[in-house]
Amino acid sequence: MTASIYAAYLQSAQRQIQLDLTQALDAFTLPEPLKSAVYHAVMLGGKRVRPALCYAVGRLNQNKNWAAVRRAAVAVELIHCYSLVHDDLPCMDNDLLRRGQPTCHVAFGEDTALLAGDILQSMAYEVLSSRLFDDMTVIEPSIMLKQMQILATASSKMVSGQVLDLQSEGKKIDQVALEKIHRNKTGALIQAAITMSAITGFTATDVALPKLRQFGEAIGLAFQVQDDILDITADTARLGKTAGKDVQVEKSTYPALMGLEGAKQYANQLHDEALEALAHFGTETKLHLITEFLLTRNY
Ligand code: IPE
Ligand code: IPE
Ligand code: MG
Ligand code: MG
Ligand code: MG
Repeated sequence: MTASIYAAYLQSAQRQIQLDLTQALDAFTLPEPLKSAVYHAVMLGGKRVRPALCYAVGRLNQNKNWAAVRRAAVAVELIHCYSLVHDDLPCMDNDLLRRGQPTCHVAFGEDTALLAGDILQSMAYEVLSSRLFDDMTVIEPSIMLKQMQILATASSKMVSGQVLDLQSEGKKIDQVALEKIHRNKTGALIQAAITMSAITGFTATDVALPKLRQFGEAIGLAFQVQDDILDITADTARLGKTAGKDVQVEKSTYPALMGLEGAKQYANQLHDEALEALAHFGTETKLHLITEFLLTRNY
């Protein structure tokens, strides 16, 4: 598979989510400077991996509930953006650069950034429970409720993971403890992107669901392992965030635990596990394209 095929797929997903995020944000009436802070946090860049996962899962079969997939893509990205705004605050990772821009608190002040993160959470659930993007297909309320539950659970796990991450700065922790942090702070939301979309197209007893769960487990953990690796190997301009921060503040990371080469090997192993789970769906799905991108990403 050439790099251009998966880059092209990601770009098309990015274009779609950009349009849908704009439509979703424009539906809210927010006072300034909150509005500008929210648009800053959401609209400026980002790889949009979680929405791309929603769309790719939605394309695995003849899914008619497309509006629910699009709402899930918007909602999970809003939660992700909120997590980044708060992650960057001085009381947390204290970062100045995000997606190649000043972080939200640098641009708008800590008070507004905190509140922008807060409101992004509420907005995510408003979107999921709304009829935004609905077409002729009437989506069952039970699907919408389930999507909200999945996102809420994952969002809570993300917060738990962030607490453990902060507590582990400057400490030596073992692989079991580190895996718990990564699965919670990052894996859970990636898993939620997949599952929120999966339940719109597959019934509860379909074997596709456990296969996708297995895929999500592997890809979700791999994503943060890769993030830890890139913090060391990539440069600030490419990353759009300050490189080398983890070593500076002695974060507990995979390279810190098993060395850079060990972490790279582990990321490859997790990607193989992800591909194994995907084999159920063939060899050429959109999810394969995203997995390929994640394996080779350099930002
Ligand atoms: C960064 O996520 C934070 C993590 C959870 C690892 P992304 O790498 O998806 O950040 P953006 O959305 O592309 O900026
Ligand atoms: C972030 O992990 C996880 C979140 C829930 C936002 P990091 O702190 O490693 O993310 P970056 O490197 O700042 O993007
Ligand atoms: Mg952090
Ligand atoms: Mg951080
Ligand atoms: Mg990081």
